[in-house]
Amino acid sequence: MAHTSYYSCMENQIAELLQNSRRCAVLTGAGISAESGVPTFRGEEGLWGKFRPEELASMDAFMANPKMVWEWYNWRRQLMGDVKPNPGHHALADLEQIMPSFWVITQNVDGLHKMAGSGNILELHGNIHRNKCVKCNQLCGEDVDIDPDNIPTCTHCGGQLRPDVVWFGEMLDPVVINRAFAESEQADVFLSVGTSAVVHPAASLPMAARSEGAKLVEINPEPTPLTDLADISVRAKSGEFLPRVVEIVREHAGRG
Ligand code: APR
Repeated sequence: MAHTSYYSCMENQIAELLQNSRRCAVLTGAGISAESGVPTFRGEEGLWGKFRPEELASMDAFMANPKMVWEWYNWRRQLMGDVKPNPGHHALADLEQIMPSFWVITQNVDGLHKMAGSGNILELHGNIHRNKCVKCNQLCGEDVDIDPDNIPTCTHCGGQLRPDVVWFGEMLDPVVINRAFAESEQADVFLSVGTSAVVHPAASLPMAARSEGAKLVEINPEPTPLTDLADISVRAKSGEFLPRVVEIVREHAGRG
């Protein structure tokens, strides 16, 4: 991305919004992890380009063929095994340190925001590294390898273990999604970073923020259904764009 006047103008406009923000929330999607090497879901290179989500990421698929579902999640865990947060994740962790109130609401299950140092995180779709019981939902270990031919069972009720992620057709954890709406509705600046903004209820959060008067900022190399509704929409990669915005915010904070 050549650093043109277009980008520096956008960087300064967004930095100014952040400098004056009392409460900020950001919704992240697979795009913020793309520069870490984690495949996104949609688009020609996306995971869903190769697989049909209903065939793998659903309770029906698991009940019909738990071995196949675990083989797919083991493959995704192996993909994520050595990925690290990229400058986009670190920039959001930095903003949490600089700004009075900053929350990361993520659709991602890769755990990279926490690894980058963010503390205020809401994981809407769970975390692929955690396992839980398919029957009683009790959490059963993190980063425990699962043998698809010998799926462990819950020590509490004997149900099979599944990944602790939200599958298609499943409800999100009401505590998490309610907090996400509360932070969005109280935000004066809302960032949408690296998401196609098509999966609800996550995709409703930017509009919830905007309906309460927040300035809506989108960072994505591609346009999305949010683009025309955003106050500022930047065609940029988050790992390249966000660090420059944070530097401007930091310089301003340093000037007191
Ligand atoms: N920086 C910012 N955005 C990027 C980058 C990047 N470097 N690379 C790609 N993107 C954008 C793409 O343009 C796309 O709009 O990230 C977005 C990724 O969209 P999806 O693959 O649809 O991922 P996401 O929006 O997170 O999907 C939402 O759908 O499949 C379910 O549960 C799954 O959480 C996921 C949800």
